[in-house]
This record gives sequence, structure tokens and C-alpha cells, in this order.
Amino acid sequence: MQTVSLGIIGCGAISSVYFRNTPLFKGLRIAACADIKAEAAAKQAQAFGAPALAVDDLIASPEIDIVVNLTVPNAHYEVSMAALKANKHVFTEKPLAARAALGRRLVEAAKKRGLAIGSAPDTFLGAAGRRARTLIDAGAIGRPVTGTAFVLGHGMEHWHPNPEFFYKPGGGPVLDLGPYYITALINLLGPIARVQALTSIGEAERLVTAAGPHQGEAIKVETPTTALALLEFASGAHIVAGMSWDVWRHSAAPIEIHGTEGSLRLPDPNFFGGAVEISKRGGDWVAHDTSADPFGALNQPAAEPKVANYRVLGVADLAAAIREKRPARAGGDLALHALEAMEAILRAGAERRAIRLPPADIRPAVLPEEEAFALLA
Ligand SMILES: NC(=O)c1ccc[n+]([C@@H]2O[C@H](COP(=O)([O-])OP(=O)(O)OC[C@H]3O[C@@H](n4cnc5c(N)ncnc54)[C@H](O)[C@@H]3O)[C@@H](O)[C@H]2O)c1
Repeated sequence: MQTVSLGIIGCGAISSVYFRNTPLFKGLRIAACADIKAEAAAKQAQAFGAPALAVDDLIASPEIDIVVNLTVPNAHYEVSMAALKANKHVFTEKPLAARAALGRRLVEAAKKRGLAIGSAPDTFLGAAGRRARTLIDAGAIGRPVTGTAFVLGHGMEHWHPNPEFFYKPGGGPVLDLGPYYITALINLLGPIARVQALTSIGEAERLVTAAGPHQGEAIKVETPTTALALLEFASGAHIVAGMSWDVWRHSAAPIEIHGTEGSLRLPDPNFFGGAVEISKRGGDWVAHDTSADPFGALNQPAAEPKVANYRVLGVADLAAAIREKRPARAGGDLALHALEAMEAILRAGAERRAIRLPPADIRPAVLPEEEAFALLA
């Protein structure tokens, strides 16, 4: 198998996870990194031993097969489009683009050029996401009827050194954390047909308390920090989804799906592992431990709580997809549908009406256990 060379663009907070995780996967290596801020690229180059290049030089380099776009959401389109125009395959951090219309242009450009485009989140391919999907497909809870998804917290300014983008259009909990939940739900239930929502801004300004160059600065909030959405799936299932950075403390489970025969409870879809719990017809919850499954073992012991974090799994699947001439599981079409759903939530909130999504026949192929193991080095 030929080694696939990745070029990382965007050497900020999340990039270290990509540098650390790439060697976990068979046939992947990071050949270069770049950032609009040369010093950010130089720092990661030094820490992880991949050469730092100028952004344009990385995109033009014949050595790079896949550009991995880890820039801020508002730069996703520009960087991914430049890479596609240079005939590179692309994997981008979420969201696919700051707006669905731009995401659609990326997906179309990739198709026109015969290139692959994929996007985070890839967490639904983790041990818990696969186990939940297998249980649903096997009819363990019967026909899914209703459910809840909640991602609630108090924002990013207490830990992220450069949190401004989270509070501008393209950020906010819907586009920043929504992708994990919406994508997990599409993986389990199929495409979304229509959404309704109420949105609000809890506080007009946020104070940066995280250590770093912006500590003490105020950020003007320009995007909703709370959204309560109703998601109507094409299958007929209905989900209540709450996404908020106006919540100090809560006790809502990340995702619960209720079917005609029972209920399913999923762990945090921002990560790859955790127990999937199932209750049959009101019986006690029975936990399915996924820690021995591929991408289920807790590999970030420094995190609290300890987590399974196998980001780059989607890149590994994209590289395999290119080789095998099949669609990538964390592919552009899925990311575009999720983005259309998130944008519809924000529009539904702003316009106070239900929004129908463009019809989509989207549900990623299951990642079987043996294929998942085969991606590992
Ligand atoms: N931080 C996290 O925990 C986390 C987790 C999952 C996903 N993400 C996603 O990863 C992406 C990056 O987030 P982050 O937290 O690393 O942000 P960050 O601000 O720490 O880093 C982004 C980097 O991109 C660079 N950049 C911006 N515009 C650029 C351009 N046009 N060309 C080249 N470089 C450019 C910036 O200089 C910066 O170094 C976002 O889409 C975010 O949603 C972040």
C-alpha cells in the first residue's frame, strides 16, 4: 500500500490531535504543515517534525495527496477550494463551510474534478457510533419514533486562547458542536426533511477568561448562543435538539432515541467511545461497553473525563475510499446535508418558521469491525 501524504493547513488548537493521531493509521503521514501565521506552523513543525511551508506552497506541492483543512470556519471554503483547484483531495474540520451554499460549491467542485472531499466530524465512525448504528439497524428498539439531543454548556472563552470566532456567524453552538450531534443522528436515522427552531442570544458580550493574548477582552456576540430545534427526519422520526452556550449546569443526556420496542442512550458524540445503553420495553438500561472495539479505548488519559479521541479516522477512511474508488463515509454529501440542517435551524429561528431541506438520500455506509481494524497501523 502506498503511503498517502497529508498537508495540514491551520496549526491552531486542534492541529496537535491530528499530528498525534496520524501515526495511529496505516499508510498515512503528515508531509508538511502551513498556517497564515508562519509562527504557528513553525511551532507545530518543531513539535512534530513535519516541515512548515507557506500556505500556497503546501497547496502547490506535488508531494501532498490530501489537504487537511484545520483553519477557522470562515476560512474553510477559501482554503478547501484552493486545494481542490490544485487537484488535491480535501478533508476539512467542521463545518464544511461557513454557509451551505459555499459547502455545496465545494462538493460540486470536487465531483467535477474527480476528487474526494470529506469533513469532520468522523466521531460517528467510532466504537459507540458504530454500536448504536448496529443496534438500530438490527431493530433493537423497533422503529425509531422520537428522541432528544442536547449539547449544553457555557461556551469557549474560559479555555480557548482565541475564542472570538465562536461568537461570530459561522460559529455558535449550532455550527460548532451541532455537527457532532446532527451527524450522529443522520447516521442513526437517515436524512432530515424539515426543521423548526427558536434561537436566542443569552448574553450580548462574552469576556475572555482563558490564559493567552486575548485574556480580559470582550467579544461582541453576533450569532445565536442557544437554539431549540425540532428535527423531522424523512423516516418519520422526530427529535428535539437543544444546543446552547448559555447553560452553566445541566443533567440532559447527549442523545436518546426512543423506538416502538425500546430506548437507546448514546455517549457524547464529540468523542469515539463510551457505553451505548439500551432499554427494552421499559426494562433497566443495559450497557454495551465499547472499550474493546476499534476506536473505543480511552487514549486521552490526560483529559478529564478520559476520552477516546481518534480524530483522523475520517481522513484514513477517505484515503481508503480514494484507493477503493468508493464514497468516503465522512464525505462531502453527508457534511453538506448536516450543514444545510444546521443552517436551516438558524434560519428557522431567525424567521420563526419551519424550513424544508433539499431532498437528500443520505446515510453513510456502516464501517464494519474488520474494516475499522484494517485502518489501524
Ligand atoms: N479546538 C478544538 O477543540 C476543536 C475540536 C474539534 C474541531 N475543531 C475545529 O477545528 C477548526 C480549527 O479550530 P481551532 O480550535 O484549532 O482554531 P484555532 O484558532 O486555534 O486555529 C486555527 C488556525 O488556522 C489559521 N488560519 C486561519 N485562517 C487561515 C487561512 N486562511 N489560511 C491558513 N491558516 C489559517 C489560524 O492562524 C490558526 O492558527 C475549526 O473549524 C473548529 O471548529 C476545533
